[in-house]
Amino acid sequence: EEARAAGGSAFSFPEVEAGVDANHHVAEGYDADILLRWGDAIFADSPAFDPKNQTAAAQVRQFGYNNDYVGFIPLEGSSEHGLLVVNHEYTNPHLMFPGLVTIAEGKVKQGALSKDQVDVEMAAHGGTIVEIRKVGGKWQVVPDGRYNRRITSTTEMQLSGPVAGHDRVKTSADAAGTRVIGTLNNCAGGVTPWGTYIMAEENFHGYFSGKLPEGHKEAANYKRYGVPEGGYEWANFYDRYDLAKEPNEPNRFGWIVEVDVMDPTSTPKKRTALGRTKHEGAESIVARNGKVVFYLGDDERFDYVYKFVTDGTYNANDRAANLNLLDAGTLYVAKFGEDGTMQWLPLIHGQGPLTAENGFASQADVLIETRRAGDLLGATKMDRPEDVQPNGINGKVYVMLTNNSRRKADQVDAANPRAENAFGHIIEIAEDGGDFTATSGKWEVLLKCGDPSVAAVGASFSTETTKNGWFGMPDNCAVDSAGRLWVSTDGNSNKATGRTDGLWAVDTEGAARATSKLFFRVPVGAEMCGPLFTPDDETAFVAVQHPGDGGEDWSGHGRPSYYEDLSTRWPDFKDDIPVRPAVVAITKIGGGKIAV
Ligand code: FEO
Ligand code: CA
Ligand code: CA
Ligand code: CA
Repeated sequence: EEARAAGGSAFSFPEVEAGVDANHHVAEGYDADILLRWGDAIFADSPAFDPKNQTAAAQVRQFGYNNDYVGFIPLEGSSEHGLLVVNHEYTNPHLMFPGLVTIAEGKVKQGALSKDQVDVEMAAHGGTIVEIRKVGGKWQVVPDGRYNRRITSTTEMQLSGPVAGHDRVKTSADAAGTRVIGTLNNCAGGVTPWGTYIMAEENFHGYFSGKLPEGHKEAANYKRYGVPEGGYEWANFYDRYDLAKEPNEPNRFGWIVEVDVMDPTSTPKKRTALGRTKHEGAESIVARNGKVVFYLGDDERFDYVYKFVTDGTYNANDRAANLNLLDAGTLYVAKFGEDGTMQWLPLIHGQGPLTAENGFASQADVLIETRRAGDLLGATKMDRPEDVQPNGINGKVYVMLTNNSRRKADQVDAANPRAENAFGHIIEIAEDGGDFTATSGKWEVLLKCGDPSVAAVGASFSTETTKNGWFGMPDNCAVDSAGRLWVSTDGNSNKATGRTDGLWAVDTEGAARATSKLFFRVPVGAEMCGPLFTPDDETAFVAVQHPGDGGEDWSGHGRPSYYEDLSTRWPDFKDDIPVRPAVVAITKIGGGKIAV
């Protein structure tokens, strides 16, 4: 048993003071260096960032917007040289385009986007694959890296697995139902055991506008997913986002996308066997029997936790043999019992209620309408499932449930124990027999989040947790190579909590269980995404998303405008450069493992 730091925490570092200001803060004794900002070069010929003259042609050669998932794929097993893979979830035009938002007579007004601006947005979405190397203890981008690549909302993708070629995914541009233009709203993701990059499509509904033709057969399906939400202006310029013109297009989004990073010309594959939801991410682990298990959260109030178990087994000696493992397997949805047991219910066409009688003619129908299949199976309605992370060291699985302000007192259950759950909670699953492929297990609440000094909140941090150590709205998480849990947050607005989002170290073992310590915090307006540790635990990469975002303003409009929090200019701190999302590399001064 390793010696524990004062306070019982398994993490040794001086805690950061919670608060709100213009900058980021990391624990004393650590460096937090900006590695990649929106607009930074990722190719040798990338144009310089020019915020007043943005073009899609420049953006597609630069690091994209709103970095969320961060993965590291070592090259030749190195922890100091590898591929950084980063999702660019969405765009904030009010922060990106100087002058778009005006304030007159106290009313915030956001202008309409031009086609050129929409094209910039589309090029700023997707993902980045970029070679990085640690030189003299500091990470650098390798701009002529042979694997460097941008993926965007216009990159051609292949639909694969049971839904490929189905009538419900055919469009006028794709009569075969197998080629999709682009990926949308890639929130979290994963890196597979065979070193491919997973981009999870989350809130795809926002990109669609227009009305389905009267009586269209997809109406109920789209209603279940909130399509169309109409938050983006892309349908003004591209028919595929207009339901009246391309009614099947939304069925081509909401999938798990797999990218073979070792071939920069490869076509990313939408792996339909893993279901269609608002996928937060897809973190995976090789089970004892060699099958690979992916854990999936569907981030919506009252939606579900899933896992996918491959039919085939992982081959550690032949990378190519694993490249289509994600096309065949079983998708399960979680039912959490009141007694602390749980079941994983299979979503298999023809079993139970998943029959033609209920409108499922094939497995493709089950996957296109994954949520309705989960409804019929009686899955447990959760408080917005975000990252679901298997821990190969202690054998458990951690489920981030970010919040659910709409849960009423009569809708509370053991796994979602608080009404109007403003701060979220974390569930710990122990699969039966320690087998990640098991179809039953046990679960308990690791942590009810929020300020423990306010009794009405009902938080359950340990008494060792300081006033800096508590958090709300868990979103992403990581497990370091020692099996320790790190949690990042989305939504600790300064007004509500007096603190920004950040990265917290959370004990799961022994007497220190449910002790939390603040390691890093973001500038005002930002959300904390990423966290990812290199295999040697000497670097933590974190993604600072939408710094300076002031939120929504409803003054004078039927729809909200958005505004900027001008108290920060992070990370450049120059008046003529917009706030920029950026990936930050955290290392210990002088080297060594983090928090040891
Ligand atoms: Fe994009 Fe579920 O957060
Ligand atoms: Ca998220
Ligand atoms: Ca994660
Ligand atoms: Ca979130």
